[in-house]
Amino acid sequence: MPPTRDQAWETLTRYTKSESLLRHALAVEASTRWYARRFGEDEELWGVTALLHDFDYEIHPTLDKHPQDGAPILREEGYPEEVIEAILSHAEHLGLPRDTQLKRTLFACDELSGFVHACGLVRPAGLDGLEPKSVKKKLKQPSFAAGVHRDEVYAGAELLGLELDQHIRNVIAALQPIAPELGLRTAADAPA
Ligand SMILES: [Fe+2]
Ligand SMILES: [Fe+2]
Repeated sequence: MPPTRDQAWETLTRYTKSESLLRHALAVEASTRWYARRFGEDEELWGVTALLHDFDYEIHPTLDKHPQDGAPILREEGYPEEVIEAILSHAEHLGLPRDTQLKRTLFACDELSGFVHACGLVRPAGLDGLEPKSVKKKLKQPSFAAGVHRDEVYAGAELLGLELDQHIRNVIAALQPIAPELGLRTAADAPA
């Protein structure tokens, strides 16, 4: 039986209590699902992978444990190897090949979803009207969302064979429908 979103959400929330980490999982899920639709791939499986990619971060907050020590837990819970391998491959320090479209997409969506989310949080209208140009400008400001690895954002777009502008546009479009879950305002909330 392929894993369902409900099952992944249950696993995720058993190990993850932090709101910001849950929002990160939701943002990466939305972006990865967006690309699954675009590529005609298995949206549910890709979504499950994205939801779970940092599921062990709260219990394994260091790189000598995350995400590698999470893998046996997922195996125990019956997740397929395809999901587990893709999760392992999102970590730069493990140096695993990104040899499937799911692996490339997860990697490409991880840092950029976080960054676009951060851009939306500082705008009165959230993601509405946000242009790639202003996202790229913020990428060049090291102090803004300093935890986001810029080199991984650029490498991700390249891995998908997309112009950075297009990838940013896609991620914005993917996150807009879940803006309330991400704690983002929308144009409807902004003062006229
Ligand atoms: Fe991670
Ligand atoms: Fe992540």
